[in-house]
Amino acid sequence: MRKKWLVGNWKMHGNLASNRTLIEQLRAELPALTEGVEMVVCPAFPYIPQLAELLKSSGIHLGAQNASDHLNGMYTGEVSPLMLHELGCDSVIIGHSERRYYQHENDGLMGRKSLAAIDAGLVPIICVGETAEERDAGRTHEVLARQLDAAFGYIRTAHDKIILAYEPRWAIGTGIAATPEIVQEELAFLRARVAQRDQAFADNLPILYGGSVKASNASSLFNMPDIDGGLIGSAALDANEFVAIYKALVASHKEA
Ligand code: PGA
Repeated sequence: MRKKWLVGNWKMHGNLASNRTLIEQLRAELPALTEGVEMVVCPAFPYIPQLAELLKSSGIHLGAQNASDHLNGMYTGEVSPLMLHELGCDSVIIGHSERRYYQHENDGLMGRKSLAAIDAGLVPIICVGETAEERDAGRTHEVLARQLDAAFGYIRTAHDKIILAYEPRWAIGTGIAATPEIVQEELAFLRARVAQRDQAFADNLPILYGGSVKASNASSLFNMPDIDGGLIGSAALDANEFVAIYKALVASHKEA
């Protein structure tokens, strides 16, 4: 059975005091995580050392929200995936739609960043997803295929470890999640597309959904067959919500 993953993307939120409170609440509610159901929190860069300390012996993984496509060099303001690895991260979100939109990141950069992350020993959590306009124009599969193919232009399926996240832009931060049926359809599409390259890799590939996941809709989403967890934004900043979403994922894992 594939492992399940719950990834909290804290975005540009938090401070030393609120980070500590949030992790202390999570650890109090979840003194032990369930085997096979992993949790990752991704704070902003400056808080990574603080989180590494707070998460010690919790079983909760530390991830980053972005990394350079280079391992080192003259790239002012960039952060190498090697640095993140050294500070205790084991994964990094790549190609989030907010970065595609605000920082104009494109498919090629996403592919190069994924490869650099892998080379640095991190698991890239690769985000793909369509905009509302693309969905309305019936172009969702074309867009997903293009983004996926760009990433696979760089990564070598046979031995690389990645996590894929379907994150439709229209569902992120809007409070309106994709329906479970839409999520299942697009996740199955992505898995089938990966299977065309490597069936075993596709069978083992964790594919997450992200976009307005909350405690109230988590169970209906997690019960779909192709979903292996969630990438959570605003609900990851609320310990009660995040714990409830984790418990919904645990329940879906036991039922599977
Ligand atoms: P949201 O964000 O849960 O606040 O919609 C999801 C994401 O950006 O990954």
